[in-house]
Amino acid sequence: MIKTVVLDSVIEAATMLREGKLVAFPTETVYGLGARLFDEEGIRSVFQAKGRPSDNPLIVHVSSLLQVEAIAQEIPSIFYRLAQLFWPGPLTVVLKKQPHVSLLVSGGLDSIAIRMPSHPMALELINQVGAPLVAPSANLSGRPSPTQASHVLEDLEGSIAAVLDGGECPLGVESTVISLLEDEIVILRPGSIGKEELEKVLERAISFASEKTPLRSPGMKYRHYAPSSPLQLVETQGEITSALDRWEGKKMVLASDPIPSSSGYDSFVLSSHNLYALLRQADREGYVGIVVLCDSALRRDEALVNRLLKASNS
Ligand code: TXA
Ligand code: MG
Repeated sequence: MIKTVVLDSVIEAATMLREGKLVAFPTETVYGLGARLFDEEGIRSVFQAKGRPSDNPLIVHVSSLLQVEAIAQEIPSIFYRLAQLFWPGPLTVVLKKQPHVSLLVSGGLDSIAIRMPSHPMALELINQVGAPLVAPSANLSGRPSPTQASHVLEDLEGSIAAVLDGGECPLGVESTVISLLEDEIVILRPGSIGKEELEKVLERAISFASEKTPLRSPGMKYRHYAPSSPLQLVETQGEITSALDRWEGKKMVLASDPIPSSSGYDSFVLSSHNLYALLRQADREGYVGIVVLCDSALRRDEALVNRLLKASNS
């Protein structure tokens, strides 16, 4: 066990990273667990602290296009267009990696996932360290991603050096991950930048990688975002009661519009911003089951639906 400190100084966080220590930091999506890209020992510790399988690659966080050009190769022109439109921001692109980037980072693949975060503390941290940072979400593997410093401590206190506290992450779900490895652009993980938005600005069709296609995003094969309390999705208000009847005890109902709480359950308004905080609350407070009203309004949020499906394991 080591002592995990909570920091509000980017400079102190940068110093620790330069010393090879693990520091979690806020981004506009979720908190990431940082180590320097070329610190092999630090990278091994990231996998170890999270309990992450070694074939699940990490996202590299940069603060400039020069840093991208130093680690990726055969970069297609569409990358520059996407960077101009969406960076800094919640878009991760998968490019061919340069050979000097460790296979530890890429989980053995010859590609590398890269994004430029827009959170001011994250950008400043990369600049202060003076090098790209690898940063998977700062949760234990299989747990909901952290959107507050306290969530990071829940999972990683005692196994990382520090968490840089930037309050709540504004978006709350992880970045959209797209592959630019082939001519056809593929969304490997939905995020707040949606398929339609990408298609509109790029004026071309984009597809979702189905979980059945060859494993293009290794992360897709693992069960993710899971609360310990079982979670069931229903489509209409009428189905809520019968879904709740399966459980005895404290129950949670989530919906995108307010539903009155009743003696049988507590209800909360759900958005992609607070999904992970609610799942963690359910675990912490001993809810025995969660029912989510996945109506047509909620179904329009493709990132939220994707995470709910994973959490429900369906
Ligand atoms: O918003 C985010 O992306 C957050 C913040 C911290 O930036 N990070 C994050 O990292 O969600 P992580 O490690 O939890 O998820 C990374 C995802 C995984 O599904 C992984 O398989 C995929 O990106 N990925 C990474 N490198 C890849 C590669 N070379 N090819 C395909 N997928 C890759
Ligand atoms: Mg993650």
